[in-house]
Amino acid sequence: MTAPVRPLRLGVNIDHVATIRNARGGPHPDPVRAALTAAAAGADGITAHLREDRRHISDDDLRRLMRDLHLPLNLEMAATDEMLGIALRHRPHAACLVPENRAERTTEGGLDVAGGQLRLTRFVEALGAAGIRVSLFIEPEARQLEAARAIGAPVVELHTGAYCEATGVARDQQLARLQRAATEAEALGLECHAGHGLSFDTVAAIAAIPGIVELNIGHFLVGEAIFGGLDSAVRRMRGLMHRARGGRQ
Ligand code: PXP
Repeated sequence: MTAPVRPLRLGVNIDHVATIRNARGGPHPDPVRAALTAAAAGADGITAHLREDRRHISDDDLRRLMRDLHLPLNLEMAATDEMLGIALRHRPHAACLVPENRAERTTEGGLDVAGGQLRLTRFVEALGAAGIRVSLFIEPEARQLEAARAIGAPVVELHTGAYCEATGVARDQQLARLQRAATEAEALGLECHAGHGLSFDTVAAIAAIPGIVELNIGHFLVGEAIFGGLDSAVRRMRGLMHRARGGRQ
């Protein structure tokens, strides 16, 4: 008898549909339509990052996502009072706290939970008290995992950017870091997610890590959608994740 495949959820990040829309300032392409397309193609959840500078997702996008989407919404947000107020008003299924720096092109590193425990605790508590599942986007390091546990976050999302950018031996080392961190997260009782920079080429090794239960993927899927459509890109990503987990297609 073969062992059952451990489920691995796919959260599709739709931020960059809004990036393209905002390049012209009109309503097209609509990230909410992309969310509904991803849902129909097999996404398990949708992720959207409402940045402080609103460079992609807008407040109105968030309002419409909450109204029209029937999948869990994971709101990526900086740990600021403005974002906390917005999250508490909308009450998405989950909120992922990320570091935010206005000059960066995307979320560059993980949150320094170990160095900022006191500041972050009240955000984790307030979101958790509102029934929002809180995750902390961190580097795959033991001290960050331990700090996440210490401040009561139920979920961590491991930053896969360094793994995706590395080549050769360095990539193997980055993969080993992620594997170790996923094992440590499980031992600490933390639900473990991963994401950033994943593509058709890099997803399988990460999807094969048994302790990881959710991947959040955005930029590559939106880019790939230009060539074959979002539906096809999401279906192919799901298939690669399923096979890496030992499932048959
Ligand atoms: N997870 C987190 C916490 C992120 O900040 C991002 C980027 O917004 C992603 C996942 C998705 O990364 P990418 O767009 O590179 O797939």
